[in-house]
Amino acid sequence: MSHAAAGRLAILALGAVLAGAGCQPAGPVATDADVIVVGAGIAGLSAALEAESHGARVLVVEASSVAGGHAVRAGGFALVDTPLQRARGLQDSPDAAYRDLMAWGEDADPWWVRSYVDNSREQVHDWLTAMGVKFTTVLPAPQASVPRFHFTRGAAVNAVVPMISEALRRPRIEFLWNTEATELLRRDGRISGVRTERNRTGGRRLYQAPAVILATGGYQSNLDLVRRTWRADLPEPARLLIGSGQHAIGSGLQLTEPFGAARIRMDHQVTFVDGLPDPRNPGHGLVAQNRAAIWVDAAGRRFTNEAAPSKVTDRAVLRLSPATHWLVFDAGGARQLAVRGAAWLAGKSLQQEILDNPALAKKADSIEALAEAAGLPSAALAETVKRFNRFVDQGMDTDFGRIGPGMTEPPPPALREPPFYAVQLFPMTRKSMGGLAIDHEARVLGGAGQVIRGLFAAGELTGVAGINGSYGGEGTFLGPSVLIGRIAGRSAVALALGPQALGTHGPAAAPPPLQPPVQPPAVPPPRTPAANLPALLAQQRRGYWHFGVSHALVTERGDACESCHRDGWAPGPALTTGQRLVQLESCTRCH
Ligand SMILES: Cc1cc2nc3c(=O)[nH]c(=O)nc-3n(C[C@H](O)[C@H](O)[C@H](O)COP(=O)(O)OP(=O)(O)OC[C@H]3O[C@@H](n4cnc5c(N)ncnc54)[C@H](O)[C@@H]3O)c2cc1C
Ligand code: HEC
Ligand code: HEC
Repeated sequence: MSHAAAGRLAILALGAVLAGAGCQPAGPVATDADVIVVGAGIAGLSAALEAESHGARVLVVEASSVAGGHAVRAGGFALVDTPLQRARGLQDSPDAAYRDLMAWGEDADPWWVRSYVDNSREQVHDWLTAMGVKFTTVLPAPQASVPRFHFTRGAAVNAVVPMISEALRRPRIEFLWNTEATELLRRDGRISGVRTERNRTGGRRLYQAPAVILATGGYQSNLDLVRRTWRADLPEPARLLIGSGQHAIGSGLQLTEPFGAARIRMDHQVTFVDGLPDPRNPGHGLVAQNRAAIWVDAAGRRFTNEAAPSKVTDRAVLRLSPATHWLVFDAGGARQLAVRGAAWLAGKSLQQEILDNPALAKKADSIEALAEAAGLPSAALAETVKRFNRFVDQGMDTDFGRIGPGMTEPPPPALREPPFYAVQLFPMTRKSMGGLAIDHEARVLGGAGQVIRGLFAAGELTGVAGINGSYGGEGTFLGPSVLIGRIAGRSAVALALGPQALGTHGPAAAPPPLQPPVQPPAVPPPRTPAANLPALLAQQRRGYWHFGVSHALVTERGDACESCHRDGWAPGPALTTGQRLVQLESCTRCH
């Protein structure tokens, strides 16, 4: 949204506020916490941990039954000049990273890029490793002049689980699970708390605190909003899959609407073009890639250098009409198909689940028959394949430069060995690079650039503060989410407890417990015998989404209950911190 539009929103919002939205009577009020954090993704966890370490009592409100947000499904972190890079003989520096990010993003926010490259080592890398996160691999990325895309063993789930574990152990952090923030409260001209709804029971409550940090993530699962803010320089795809998480609907944007919070760069979005319809989750997409494939459009023609950086190929696909393309490969190439993006894929045979599924992949013994099956013009596709095979044989792609001098990948194989395959892909939403406008202290700004007192924001809700500009980099969401989360945590503490509190570090004297402390159910729920699981899964209960998707997988794999439910956590909800910690040991069984 433009500033002008945000300004109009501010005027509308004033009307809403005068009409009483979120207003409370004046007078002294007991607080429930010093800082309320909405959202327990990597940004919210960072904010909560930071605020707690300066003595704040923190209440974390999380809509889901589990923490971690997108980081659970994400890959790596862009980190600058780390011990791992040095050990590999890689010379990196904040200046080099600054140049890379500014050049790749084209219109990135220079202040935030500078802040990130200068602080990623200490504020992100060192802080995470002190919590037990181990970075073990560093990979190159197209936007980076030196490899700086850092991975833990496996993916980012191994970075966020230690953070959740740490947050659970901190004495002054309290989690409210399955609880959605539905409205912000305002008192005496400043944000003073949140209204919540327990999504399993429908129970509602107000929680008061002098500082509220919103870390609700992006809006890439809100197709309506994605389309309304679609960038002007590219046509809107007719079919757009969802490639983002369950709760990424932009609720932080909606929460702040009545207060006229400014939104910036809303048309800056990462849209992948290699989305394969997820056969188990209609409307959602998996990521399908195949280095042995050629890409063809609806006319059966190649249209880009398939090996070019995604910045180039994404735009090439989005400019097509219709915006869709087919991966075409042969029997040998089929072995190079890679599909990721859902936990259910783990351990599955791609041949069985994807290549032999006629809804996802067309298969034939000749290119002509393949074209017919895929609904592509047969003569054109045959000519395209013949021409490409000639390029392979002569070692030169004179159409798009995929083969020949300047080649960035090993030469692709020719397509000669039947059966041949065609897999149709669609654009897919992924990451928000715009959102709530914040200042350098992560305070949320109104339409006129004024600070909305008591309100902070971090992570993808802010479009990670414009660090990516127009083009998302590799690993440049997770790291910035940590940094901005920590900044928001510090700023919230300075407001709630006074700036002197920032001098305090580490656990101080045991603080008073939060009101209410844990939420024990009136009667401890009975242990669920394995036989009852199908009955539980058959019920469509609000607030049980993760339980449903995870235990559908448990059932499919025939996992024994005790392989995860052990050490005092019987099959049933985790009610104590101890049970939550046992539960955390199971995350990597699926993620
Ligand atoms: C599949 C995938 C792969 C990715 N890979 C990478 C990668 O390799 N490197 C990289 O840097 N980035 C990657 N990203 C992006 C990155 O994961 C996210 O940008 C980042 O994790 C966002 O963190 P966050 O805490 O801001 O938001 P989220 O992770 O979205 O967390 C928001 C949390 O808020 C909760 N919430 C939302 N609304 C409410 C409400 N009203 N009340 C209470 N709770 C609420 C949600 O349930 C969620 O837990 C990837 C993204 C996806 C989808
Ligand atoms: C038995 C398998 C299983 C286990 C164990 C499991 N999950 Fe999941 N989880 C899933 C599935 C399936 C999804 C749906 C998304 C997908 O397929 O990747 C999911 C989604 C999520 C999401 C939402 C991502 C989004 O798309 O919004 C989060 C957050 C999450 N899991 C966190 C956890 C955490 C934290 C743990 C450990 C406490 C955990 N999960 C344990 C199977 C599991
Ligand atoms: C691979 C690990 C894993 C296995 C195996 C497993 N669970 Fe779970 N279970 C979890 C996780 C993780 C949660 C938390 C899910 C959530 O809250 O979203 C959970 C939560 C539950 C819950 C609580 C749902 C609620 O009310 O919040 C029940 C009931 C349950 N499991 C039953 C079972 C039964 C019965 C079995 C054996 C048939 C089983 N589980 C096997 C990981 C596992």
